[in-house]
Amino acid sequence: MQHLEKAVAEVATSAVDKLYAPFPFGRRTLRNRIVMAPMTRNCSPNGVPGEAVAAYYARRASGGAGLIVTEGTCIDHPAANGYRDVPAFHGAGLEGWERVMRAVHAEGALIMPQLWHVGAVRRRGMEPDSGVPGYGPMDEFENGERVVHAMTEEDIDAVAASYARGARSAHSLGFDGVEIHGAHGYLLDQFLWRESNRRDDQYGGTIANRARFPAKVVAAMRAAVPADFPIVFRFSQWKMTDYKARIAEDPTELGEVLRPLADAGVDLFHASTRRFWEPAFEGSPENLAACARRVTGKPLIAVGSVGLAQQHETRRLRTRDNVGSEVADLTRLRECLERDDFDLVAVGRGMLADAQWANKVRAGGVSTLNALTPEMLQVLT
Ligand SMILES: Cc1cc2nc3c(=O)[nH]c(=O)nc-3n(C[C@H](O)[C@H](O)[C@H](O)COP(=O)(O)O)c2cc1C
Repeated sequence: MQHLEKAVAEVATSAVDKLYAPFPFGRRTLRNRIVMAPMTRNCSPNGVPGEAVAAYYARRASGGAGLIVTEGTCIDHPAANGYRDVPAFHGAGLEGWERVMRAVHAEGALIMPQLWHVGAVRRRGMEPDSGVPGYGPMDEFENGERVVHAMTEEDIDAVAASYARGARSAHSLGFDGVEIHGAHGYLLDQFLWRESNRRDDQYGGTIANRARFPAKVVAAMRAAVPADFPIVFRFSQWKMTDYKARIAEDPTELGEVLRPLADAGVDLFHASTRRFWEPAFEGSPENLAACARRVTGKPLIAVGSVGLAQQHETRRLRTRDNVGSEVADLTRLRECLERDDFDLVAVGRGMLADAQWANKVRAGGVSTLNALTPEMLQVLT
């Protein structure tokens, strides 16, 4: 019996230690498998991340994270932004990002920007040019007024070129890679999702057509940076407006969505789920990251409630009443790592609660972590 307990404890330790094993990332090496998930903080007035933002990311780097994915940062297309005080990845925003990057590198972590276009989520009145409507797969009207402009082929090419400029800037500034925000119901995901894309041209209809624009973005970025500069694509089934939404109904469809992106130049996929361990599809216990890894053959980042106690099923991630104060153990993460389901794991809210997440878990386990409070979602600390 004692022997068995010892064996179980050893397996547990070795699997958790896997979290701290290095991982190759382009020309560089991640010091561990722990990624800070991208989280919008609305703290960059005029699109410029300032000293406080640099210090915020540097704290997570000094807390041991191997890789930081920045909050969504807008490409230089006029309709990219949908929210107040989010950072831009162009113009004066780049100086701010360079400061963030240096601060993170000084603490031994790697960092990549998450390039963002909100698509049809944008409404007039938003920065930088308040007259610009949302841009999306289809026209949308509210009270007789057109609030979203259906993108033409020229618009599609312009956005792809804008993403490519973002990738080029990331590379030339010295970032370690770039992530494409292709998830949660923003522009690229609006094209991927049947419900938001009813186009009848080459960008709508079949899965291959719906994936064409995201693949075009990837190809444009790939052509703009060296072959060994990592391009990560973040995708999700769920949307901000619909937690039950799906871009793929089964593993075969998931492959049809993701393989054109891999062929266009994606190096890693980032499967965004609310709970990383949940089965992706009926009939198999396989989680979304594991399934994506299997159908693409690419490395995967998993994310969703790592270290957090069970959340309300239906409530929005960011609302105050959906903040569980409990820290959860890493049993499920351990099981997934033991099975080699995915390669890296991203921690979002857990790392807002405790900047020292990676170091503390290694030194003393999850019981040493700070619990999450609603205030932590509101302020930058
Ligand atoms: C405050 C907040 C802001 C977020 N902003 C982004 C974002 O800019 N881009 C993105 O892809 N996901 C965003 N997310 C989703 C997170 O990256 C992550 O996938 C989600 O919080 C689940 O991980 P967690 O359970 O570890 O928090 C955000 C989440 C939170 C809580």
